[in-house]
Amino acid sequence: MAKLEGKVAVVTGASSGIGEATAEALAAEGAAVVVAARREDRLTDLVERIRDDGGRVLAAVCDVTEESGAHGLIRKAEEEFGSVDILVNNAGVMLLSNVGKSLSEEWRQMFDVNVMGLLYATDAAIEVMKRRGGGHLVNVSSLAGKKVTRDSSGVYAGSKHAVGAISEGLRQELLADGIRVTVIEPGAVETELATHITDEEARESLGGLLQLEILQAEDIASAIVYAVTQPPRVSVNEILIRPTQQPV
Ligand SMILES: NC(=O)c1ccc[n+]([C@@H]2O[C@H](COP(=O)([O-])OP(=O)(O)OC[C@H]3O[C@@H](n4cnc5c(N)ncnc54)[C@H](OP(=O)(O)O)[C@@H]3O)[C@@H](O)[C@H]2O)c1
Repeated sequence: MAKLEGKVAVVTGASSGIGEATAEALAAEGAAVVVAARREDRLTDLVERIRDDGGRVLAAVCDVTEESGAHGLIRKAEEEFGSVDILVNNAGVMLLSNVGKSLSEEWRQMFDVNVMGLLYATDAAIEVMKRRGGGHLVNVSSLAGKKVTRDSSGVYAGSKHAVGAISEGLRQELLADGIRVTVIEPGAVETELATHITDEEARESLGGLLQLEILQAEDIASAIVYAVTQPPRVSVNEILIRPTQQPV
């Protein structure tokens, strides 16, 4: 039997990259999946693919920076599929630059999506999980949530360090409710994430890393499936995954 039969998962940032691969992997393990992001056309394609493979899936257009939108996403999952057992907080942006270039709109966007979006969705999901006697929160942080490097990533790293701290707080707050918390910390993964960087200097400093054989989104999806398919006594709290060739 598929390991997640009967479970309901919500994946934010599912319109591309790690979120898309994770939604497919969770559905392949039998979970009913709600896929969320802003780009409806991408979600529609994903829903068709998962349904063609026999999966149960729904799309929810949602901007996680809007509290009501994030809460509505969790409500929709419970209304349509009866529960929220797994929330993968994956939506994120990485708009790298050095501070001192007046890119405050980009800093704000990173904290709004990477931190506040995660909190809004988590806040709503916890209410459902407590009522139902358990659940699993998976927060996609980054290697930048552990280490700060000289590649213009200070503000992004700040947002991901916040994800790590919040996740450890959640772990302690929620263990008595049977809610497990996992932080995923990928190194470089081949997705569209870096294509949104507007700062030329930051793009250049990332260039060398992207020449290496970096991870695929499916590699991270496998780690997430591993974390959420362990027996209830096992809480996988942190998984850090680098491409073999990544030096820092
Ligand atoms: N790629 C890497 O090297 C790497 C390394 C470490 C950690 N990560 C983390 O992995 C996560 C996924 O990134 P990715 O690499 O898969 O990049 P990606 O392909 O760019 O995916 C980012 C996802 O976030 C969604 N998103 C962005 N802003 C949103 C908002 N306001 N509301 C809802 N969804 C929003 C995007 O969808 P829409 O634009 O359709 O809304 C997209 O689906 C991020 O948290 C990122 O920080 C990535």
